[in-house]
Amino acid sequence: MFEAENVTIRIGSRNILNAVSAKVEPGKLTVIAGPNGAGKSTLLKVLTGELKPDSGSVRFDGTPLAALAPHRLAARRAVLPQSSRLAFPFTVLEVVRLGLECRPGLSPALRRTAPLAALEKVDLGSFGGRHYQELSGGEQQRVHLARILCQIGEPVVHERPHYIFLDEPTASLDIRHQIETLDIARRFADGGGGVLAILHDLNLSAMYADHLIVMSQGEVAAEGTPRAVITDELMESVFGVRLKVGRQPAGDLPFVLPQAIG
Ligand SMILES: Nc1ncnc2c1ncn2[C@@H]1O[C@H](COP(=O)(O)OP(=O)(O)O)[C@@H](O)[C@H]1O
Ligand SMILES: [Mg+2]
Repeated sequence: MFEAENVTIRIGSRNILNAVSAKVEPGKLTVIAGPNGAGKSTLLKVLTGELKPDSGSVRFDGTPLAALAPHRLAARRAVLPQSSRLAFPFTVLEVVRLGLECRPGLSPALRRTAPLAALEKVDLGSFGGRHYQELSGGEQQRVHLARILCQIGEPVVHERPHYIFLDEPTASLDIRHQIETLDIARRFADGGGGVLAILHDLNLSAMYADHLIVMSQGEVAAEGTPRAVITDELMESVFGVRLKVGRQPAGDLPFVLPQAIG
């Protein structure tokens, strides 16, 4: 389990995270939602060890992140950043193979097959020989998802759960690939791994999240099941929009439908 406790990140005189606590547990899909600038990416970076908090602690299975060697951490968790730029003229398969750098112990047979298997998972099985630069934004995003799936392998290895951290993985995807991406995340969690995903779509969050954390102005504004968290009051207090939250008859899941309120 990844656990941030009372984490504060200060930039200048401003706390962009203010005493935030959050967990990423194995077997669960945890979603962070919230307005632009709320601190979602910053919290993800703190949990993955990319940013060191000014105060508070971040632990992985009880050990402070700072005490873990980067290669050990990379064997247990993979990170899909909000934007990944690549300036080199790589083919798609070469980009995905970068994920193997973190798996020195992998058998030669799996080294050959894992990249293509990961590309097939993201529906890009026939794209291996294409130039990464020439793909659409959404296709490039799925290539990076394949790269981190290739890095992390199975959700549980030798009884140890693995984790994936996804910063807006569905941002430039069409609806089918948004669903396929979240299905991949869901299966990873159902297989015993841990998932943290930042999502803007509250309806997809309601469909997929076991645990929803809503951030606002560097703090956790609400957390719990989507059913408990997504309310009319939250839409107004956190997102500043007067939208009515509906309930699906089956399953009682909340949904938010943008519409004019007369
Ligand atoms: N390196 C930085 N320097 C200055 N401000 C930053 C930096 N990183 C983030 N911020 C600010 O902190 C706030 C939170 O950023 P971020 O975590 O990226 O938000 P979110 O992912 O929720 O949109 C924003 O107001 C952003 O401008
Ligand atoms: Mg962000």
